[in-house]
Amino acid sequence: MFHPDGPSLGELIVQALSSTDRGYDLLAPKFEVTPFRTPDAVLKVALDAAGEVDTALDLCCGTGAAMRHLRARCRRLVVGVDRSAGMLAEAHKRVAEAPGATPFALVRGDALALPFRRAFDLVTCFGAFGHIPVRDEPRFVEQIARALRPGGCFVFVTTDPIPWWHPVWWMARGFNAAMHLRNALRKPEFVMYYLTFQLPRATALLEQAGFTVETRRGAFSRPYGRLVLVIARREGA
Ligand SMILES: C[S@@+](CC[C@H](N)C(=O)[O-])C[C@H]1O[C@@H](n2cnc3c(N)ncnc32)[C@H](O)[C@@H]1O
Repeated sequence: MFHPDGPSLGELIVQALSSTDRGYDLLAPKFEVTPFRTPDAVLKVALDAAGEVDTALDLCCGTGAAMRHLRARCRRLVVGVDRSAGMLAEAHKRVAEAPGATPFALVRGDALALPFRRAFDLVTCFGAFGHIPVRDEPRFVEQIARALRPGGCFVFVTTDPIPWWHPVWWMARGFNAAMHLRNALRKPEFVMYYLTFQLPRATALLEQAGFTVETRRGAFSRPYGRLVLVIARREGA
């Protein structure tokens, strides 16, 4: 699971004991070879489904994995938002070298406080829902709705709820319990919890915010077959 050039267990522990932003600043140079980076096979399927657009925004863009795909699929502008300066610096190098000549911009900011109004045809977010506290998910969806033009889409991948008897459920709950304890004992927090923004909660939040939601099961081949592709269209004039 972990690459020889990736972070050691000790480095991961130091990162988790710092804060979400500082942790990612430290992880940034090695992030590309961690299992936390969304695989290109997943990004390709999801972004092919999104189609060509004029403008796209990738939330929690990290080292720009999705932006590198978006550059070739976007006619006018690709924007990435992330809170970690270290991750944005890596994204800058890597997106600049990606195929496509479409201009791109990187913005240091919070996905829960976006400065955009009706600016994008497409919003994406991959591998980062665990950093959005459950209580903030309605605000997260509101921000996305506001950033999209009417008729624009929010495209992402998630899973159906994992049943409690599955070993993954127990591992995820164990990890979440450890993070709750860590965050109760030590500030600033490292916000990272599993099993968040899953279906059907994600669908319900999006529909409440005026989206029409399409879910596609079976879109991904092994080993990503459990993932569900979601295309949520913002209705309204
Ligand atoms: C696991 S990485 C995923 C990066 C990339 N999207 C990918 O799939 O490879 C999560 C990223 O979310 C960023 N992040 C966490 N909370 C955030 C927030 N509230 N607003 C913006 N970025 C955030 C982190 O700095 C990190 O770069």
